[in-house]
Amino acid sequence: MVKIAPSILSADFCNLERDIQRVSTADWLHVDVMDGMFVPNISIGVPVVQSIRAHTDMFLDTHLMVEKPGRYVDAFAKAGADLLSIHLEADMPPAIHAALDRMEALGVKKGIVLRPITAAEAVVPYLERGLDLILVMTVEPGFGGQSFLADQLPKISAIRALIDRYCPGCRLEVDGGVNAKTAKDCIAAGADVLVAGSAIYGATDIPAAIAALRG
Ligand code: DX5
Ligand code: ZN
Repeated sequence: MVKIAPSILSADFCNLERDIQRVSTADWLHVDVMDGMFVPNISIGVPVVQSIRAHTDMFLDTHLMVEKPGRYVDAFAKAGADLLSIHLEADMPPAIHAALDRMEALGVKKGIVLRPITAAEAVVPYLERGLDLILVMTVEPGFGGQSFLADQLPKISAIRALIDRYCPGCRLEVDGGVNAKTAKDCIAAGADVLVAGSAIYGATDIPAAIAALRG
């Protein structure tokens, strides 16, 4: 069953509680954290996650677009994130493993993220240790509203095969430019969690937009 994760990057931050309630027919809430270093944009941080946690029971799928993300695992776990995903490009492999160890110790679900440039094979050492989620970026991270990079579809298929081989319980999420049309391609390639910002918040009928993404 495919899960839909609306990205609150496309919400109105002055009406965040309202905009979270508007996507209540979805499954997860995707929270984009950007530090202005790993990506050029700055979005939201720990206090906002803490406030969101106090106002919703939705699963908080927290995408950390920050340099050396291990520095923030404790703070986001304490703020109430359910899952933290960290970019493989954001630190050296031993530090990425240490951050994942820390998530495990804190009882938060653990994910890794790949920029478009990063090859599918990079996930193998992490799948071997066990993961809850792999996120494949289908745009350059940093901004909502960009066009889907179709050249990432073979990578999604390759990672699906690696997940089935090494860690069958791991979820495969896609983020960037996902709409009703590209969602079909992602699902066909093996994705089972779809993030969407503009395709959901830009729609006049949000529950219909969420339903359309399910295929
Ligand atoms: C981009 C973020 C995405 C973004 C998706 O760096 O990680 O989650 O909000 O927005 P859309 O769906 O508009 O491409
Ligand atoms: Zn994201």
